Amino acid sequence: MKDIKSIRNDFPILQKEVYGRKLIYLDNAATTQKPQCVIDAINNIYLNFNANVHRGVHALSDMASEEYEKAREKVRSFINAAKKEEIIFTSGTTGSINAVAFSFGEKYIKRGDEILISHIEHHSNIVPWQMLCQRKGAKIKVIPVDDSGQIIFEEYLKLITDKTKLVAITQASNALGTEVPVKEITEEAHRHGIPVLIDGAQGIQHGTTDVRDIGCDFYAFSGHKIYGSAGIGVLYGKEKLLEEMPPYQGGGDMIKNVTFEKTTYNDLPFKFEAGTTNFPAAIGLARALDYISELGLKDISSREQKLLNYATEKLQGIDEVQIIGNAALKIPVISFNIKGIHHYDAGMILDKLGIAVRTGNHCAQPALERFGLVGTIRVSLCFYNTTEEIDILADGIKKVIEMFA
Ligand code: ALA
Repeated sequence: MKDIKSIRNDFPILQKEVYGRKLIYLDNAATTQKPQCVIDAINNIYLNFNANVHRGVHALSDMASEEYEKAREKVRSFINAAKKEEIIFTSGTTGSINAVAFSFGEKYIKRGDEILISHIEHHSNIVPWQMLCQRKGAKIKVIPVDDSGQIIFEEYLKLITDKTKLVAITQASNALGTEVPVKEITEEAHRHGIPVLIDGAQGIQHGTTDVRDIGCDFYAFSGHKIYGSAGIGVLYGKEKLLEEMPPYQGGGDMIKNVTFEKTTYNDLPFKFEAGTTNFPAAIGLARALDYISELGLKDISSREQKLLNYATEKLQGIDEVQIIGNAALKIPVISFNIKGIHHYDAGMILDKLGIAVRTGNHCAQPALERFGLVGTIRVSLCFYNTTEEIDILADGIKKVIEMFA
């Protein structure tokens, strides 16, 4: 892996100061910063070949379409999907999950059916299923988690019935950091013929993801959490399922032929890409995937795990800090509270010290409610963070404690 100094130099924003202090950005689970090469790739489109994709006969449109389809191929190979027709560009993880809830839901979910999710889902892997259940008269069932924040596998097995029509589960919890055994969950669901959707929003950026090895039927992730821009996401779906599913949005590019009497739909993946997609962001995402592949996904993962261990030890060394979520396998996310201090107050003071953390319920209210909490302070690390930054965080937390003493 490149040395940390040159990695950090790739990210212009990391050189920034806030309130006259060096920026310490520890909110990577909310969104990651962008390397110059991604910024350049997106700029280059607007400077040199901006035109709508799949629509024009002219040179710029051809160039844009070619780059867009190359980006699709890049995503395919990054997650090891079998075909590029299985890669649908959406607006983000939320867009991808809603697409499945509407399209798969419309076709396969009936009154009395059950959808299994877990207690540590992000709201975007809860609410679309609730809305579907309301439309269809179906029901959500929730896999409980233990005190470490890991799902209880035996309880999962007990919840599977002949009414279960889908398992929708996160690869990693944004609120607690838990890495969920998605491959084992998928294998078990498939033993019962139940399809599985994986919310990869917090998983994909921390190592190698192979959708064929996991075996999942759907996989969703966001560009902005993996060093690309906002406004782009991916829905991977197995071809057979996607072929059977109806489109969930109508408009341009998703059709073959339209008359007032009847419309025939386009082939995959275009059937699910109505309207002009965010093609510049898709092309930027491809550049981001190249960037992290060049750094090396194994190296990223091992560096991040070292940072996680270092930060966990540092925070455990402060008596007033209570960490929530200590599963054996975790992404580099630490959720914690400081005894007697509201998470929001702590976050505000850390901010004034130049340290960016997230506070609140992290869009995962039920996950925190499981631990009797309404909010935490969350530190989310990635490969460009350093042990020095973690030291500054620990000093900052001690300052917060002193101020409230
Ligand atoms: N889902 C993002 C987070 O966990 C926004 O912060």
